[in-house]
Amino acid sequence: MSRDLLTAEAVAEGLNTRTIGRRIIFLPETGSTNEIGIREALNGAPEGTVIIAGKQTRGRGRLKRAWNTPEGNIALSVILYPDMTLLHLLIMAASLAVVHAIETVTGLKAGIKWPNDVLIDDRKVCGILIESDIRSTSVNYTVTGIGINVNIGRDELAGVLTPATSLLIETGKEVSRIDLIRELLSDMDRMYSSLSSGERVFGEWRDRLVTLGSEVRATSVNEVIEGVAESVDASGNLLVRDTAGTL
Ligand code: BTN
Repeated sequence: MSRDLLTAEAVAEGLNTRTIGRRIIFLPETGSTNEIGIREALNGAPEGTVIIAGKQTRGRGRLKRAWNTPEGNIALSVILYPDMTLLHLLIMAASLAVVHAIETVTGLKAGIKWPNDVLIDDRKVCGILIESDIRSTSVNYTVTGIGINVNIGRDELAGVLTPATSLLIETGKEVSRIDLIRELLSDMDRMYSSLSSGERVFGEWRDRLVTLGSEVRATSVNEVIEGVAESVDASGNLLVRDTAGTL
């Protein structure tokens, strides 16, 4: 299968962003772009540095799960130093930027499963892992890791536990990772620049949540809550009404 030639130069060409993507590091193969992002952030990387991998060998998922990134997918991490009060909006902006980029480049309709999985017709196409270093009341760094299933077939998704899909499966043709990344970085940059007036980001994120109204099993590292996902609050917390009627 032919693949688009992913390089830092190809992504940077014509990219007109204020912060995100001003510095792009491309690694043909690495363990985890989040791992590299954290190391770079601790070494004082400029805000908006993006690390992109052609392939990950130790990709990290939420709740300490592994994330598989074979050749043909997108794995990237963005280093940001937001104000502490904007952290919850960054989570929303990241998933919204993925939704916008997928819709612009492929024409497919995407939704968000709380808090930030991106789905197409109930199947996961993207996962996001934000790793932050918070020192009492300030953010030392955030690394927003985004993994998108792009040009992989059904056989390469075999063994993935949650129902999953890729853009290749949904469109029936290869999708340019370069176009998708450029669109994603531009959109995330636009939202990041206006994060302090967070009203719009929250409202749009809430409107894109496919989770509301459905039965959920919310799993955190040390707790499981079952019930109906009723709403979200302005901080992005999911409000679940359990079987005893407690919110
Ligand atoms: C999840 O849904 O569990 C989150 C998956 C996040 C995967 C991305 S791929 C790029 C970045 N590097 C990692 O090691 N993980 C994130």
